[in-house]
Amino acid sequence: SDIRTAPTQSVGPEYQSESQKPTATVSTPVNFDNVTILPQTPQLIALLSIIRNRDTQRGDFVFYSNRIIRLLVEEGLNHLPTVEHTVTTPVGRPYDGLAFHGKICGVSIMRAGEAMEQALRECCRSVRIGKILIQRDEETAQPKLFYDKLPEDIADRWVLLLDPMFATGGSAMMAVDVLKSRGVPDERILFLNVLASPEGITNFATKFPKVRVVSAFVDPGLDEKNYIIPGLGDFGDRYYTR
Ligand code: PRP
Ligand code: URA
Repeated sequence: SDIRTAPTQSVGPEYQSESQKPTATVSTPVNFDNVTILPQTPQLIALLSIIRNRDTQRGDFVFYSNRIIRLLVEEGLNHLPTVEHTVTTPVGRPYDGLAFHGKICGVSIMRAGEAMEQALRECCRSVRIGKILIQRDEETAQPKLFYDKLPEDIADRWVLLLDPMFATGGSAMMAVDVLKSRGVPDERILFLNVLASPEGITNFATKFPKVRVVSAFVDPGLDEKNYIIPGLGDFGDRYYTR
């Protein structure tokens, strides 16, 4: 299929000159106010190179995708509000800092999204986590909703929606519809994903311009089976069963 050309860029530490830095394919740019792409650092590109490699076995796939997911969760948390907070240090001096503000919860789109729960728990002690089971039809790529179990008071929380793969956007849009039907306002939903496509982002950001999206990387497109290309294959299979 007609894959668009992905941008390449020299990637490396600041002390290296442009000619010393190696060149790599970086994220395809997207132009929506509510979409943030992680900085294209040497670490991120090297980690993605491991999990994209078809020869990478499950143990390494899990280890290295967990590292990328941790980066995503840390960045995602920066999109939540904070308030001024002054503390006193052990030497009796004040420090004018910040405190987290507002209740949060995670919601994973099963099965692949469950791979992102651990990183969220590592960052947010005893965070509540809801589940939505959505499966894409293998022939048509249409999402189907099977099940959901969400915190009772979800309408009062910020929701971190978790799914590593953002292909056509069908699954994520269905999940946001579920969250909205429980009273969660668009402004309080943050969708975290590892790999996105321009089609998915455009579909999603057009339907939900107020929902924030944080992606580690946007690939140039989708293939005829609506897999992300070059992509990394089937995330759920590689993380859980392959
Ligand atoms: C995959 C993936 C997303 C969805 C993305 O899930 O984890 O949920 O497809 O595609 P979309 O943006 O086109 O909807 P799948 O239904 O294969 O289930 P799995 O998580 O059990 O692997
Ligand atoms: N789901 C995946 O796991 N991979 C894709 O490329 C698309 C949907």
